[in-house]
Amino acid sequence: MGVHDVLEIEGGRPLKGEIKVRGAKNFVSKAMVAALLGGGESVLRNVPQIRDVEIVADLLRAHGVAVDWDPVEGIVKMDPSGVGAAKSADIITHAGSSRVPILFCGPLLHRIGEAFIPDLGGCNIGGRPIDYHLEAMRLFGAEVHKEPDGVRLRAPRRLQGMQMELAYPSVGATEQLLLTAVLAEGVTELRGGATEPEILDLVAVLQQMGAIISLETDRTYRIEGVDSLRGYHHMALPDRIEAASWAGAALATGGDITVLGARQLDLTTYLNYFRKVGGRFDVTDHGIRFWHPGGPLKAIAVETGVHPGFMTDWQQPFVVALTQATGLSIIHETVYEQRFGFTKALNRMGAQIQLYRECLGGQKCRFGRRNYEHSAVVSGPTPLHAADIRVPDLRGGFSHLIAAMAAKGKSSVAGIDLIDRGYEHFAEKLEALGAGFKRL
Ligand code: EPZ
Repeated sequence: MGVHDVLEIEGGRPLKGEIKVRGAKNFVSKAMVAALLGGGESVLRNVPQIRDVEIVADLLRAHGVAVDWDPVEGIVKMDPSGVGAAKSADIITHAGSSRVPILFCGPLLHRIGEAFIPDLGGCNIGGRPIDYHLEAMRLFGAEVHKEPDGVRLRAPRRLQGMQMELAYPSVGATEQLLLTAVLAEGVTELRGGATEPEILDLVAVLQQMGAIISLETDRTYRIEGVDSLRGYHHMALPDRIEAASWAGAALATGGDITVLGARQLDLTTYLNYFRKVGGRFDVTDHGIRFWHPGGPLKAIAVETGVHPGFMTDWQQPFVVALTQATGLSIIHETVYEQRFGFTKALNRMGAQIQLYRECLGGQKCRFGRRNYEHSAVVSGPTPLHAADIRVPDLRGGFSHLIAAMAAKGKSSVAGIDLIDRGYEHFAEKLEALGAGFKRL
C-alpha cells in the first residue's frame, strides 16, 4: 500500500465539468510491444500517463529497446535496434503486475529466438488462463517450458504460419496471434478471433509496419507473413473504457461530464444503453457530453460480451448508476466468471444487488451451471450512504469511487493505487469535476 493510497471522499455532490481522455490502455501497451518487431524507431502518440505504460516501457528497456517517453506530450519513441535477451531478474520484478508481458512471446522469438514470460497479473476477476496463448505459440513451432517463475519459450527455427480456431474470441490471444504471425513464414489463419477496436488499431499499426493482414466478416484473420517490418508512427485510439467510466460517474451522481477525446464510433453500444437508462448525451467534434437530465432513471437488462457487444469493462460503473434506476435491472456477465466481487461493497453502501449462478440472459455463456455468480439483479433506486471500502480491482475500484462520490457523507476508499494502473490523473480529473476528497 502506497503513501497516498487512501481517498477520503465527501460524497453527495454531482460531478460536473470537463475532462480529457487520451489513448486506450488496452491498445497502447500492445502497440508498444509491436515496436519490438520493427527494424527502426516507432513513435506512438496520445499515450496516457498510467502505470501499465511504465511497466511495458520497463520491460522493453530490459530487452535493450531504447524508450523515450514524454508523459506530458504523451509521446513514446521506441528504438529496438539494440534488442537482446533480458536478465531474468529484470523481468521477474514485473511478475503479477500486468497481463501484457504474455504478448512479448512472438516478437521476442522472432528477434532473439527466446522469451521468458513472468507469471502474469492483472485484475483478479476470474481464472484468466493463458492456454490459448501457449497453444498458439506451439502451433507456430515454439518450444514452451513452464518454469517456477514463469514460462520459457524457444524458437528452434523461424516460426511457421499456422491455422487455429479460438474456442472463445479472446482479445489477448487474438493479439498474440497477430503479433506473431506477421513475421512467421507463410500464411496464418485465425478463426473465431476478437475484433475489438483496440485490436483493429493494432492491425493498423502492424499494417503501417509492412504486415499483410485481412479480416473477414466471420471473424477470420488471414495474415501473410513477411520477412521484415519497419517502425511506425501512430496516434492511439481514445480510451473508450475510461470514457464510459466517466459517463457512469455523471449518471450515478446526477452530474454532467464532458469527456474530451471520447469517440462515438467506439462507444455505439454503450451509448444505446446509456440512453435506454435515461442518460443524455451530446456528441461534438471534440468529445461527448454525458449528463443526468433529472427525474428517475429506468431499469434495464444488459449482457456483457465481446465486441460489438456491451464491454465487460463498462459494466462496473454502469452498475453503480443502475442502483439509482427505478425497478429491477439485470446484468449477465459472459466474459469473466467472477466480475461481480465489487458489488459487495455497494451493498454495504445501501445498494440492493443480488448475485445469481444462473445465466440471466439469452446470450451463449460458458459459466452457466458452473457455480459462478455471474448474473446480478439490481433493485433500485436505493440512496447510497458512505462506507469504508478497499478496492478489489481496476474497474471495480473505479466504480467504488463513483459510489462514494454519489453517497452522502464521508467515505474512505483504500487501495486506490490500483486505479493509477489504468486511469490517467484520476484525482486531478475528480478535482476538475468538483468532487470533494482528500488523498491521504
Ligand atoms: C483484455 O484482457 C483486457 N486487458 C481486459 O481489460 C478486458 O476486460 C478483456 O480483454 C476483454 O475485453 C488488456 O487488454 C490488457 P481475454 P484479456 O483474453 O486479453 C478467457 C481492464 O480492466 N481466456 O479476451 O486478458 C478468459 O479467461 C482489463 O482493462 C481463456 O480461457 O482478455 C476470459 O474469460 C480487465 N484462455 C475470456 O477468455 C486464454 O488463453 C476473455 O479474456 C485467454 C483467455
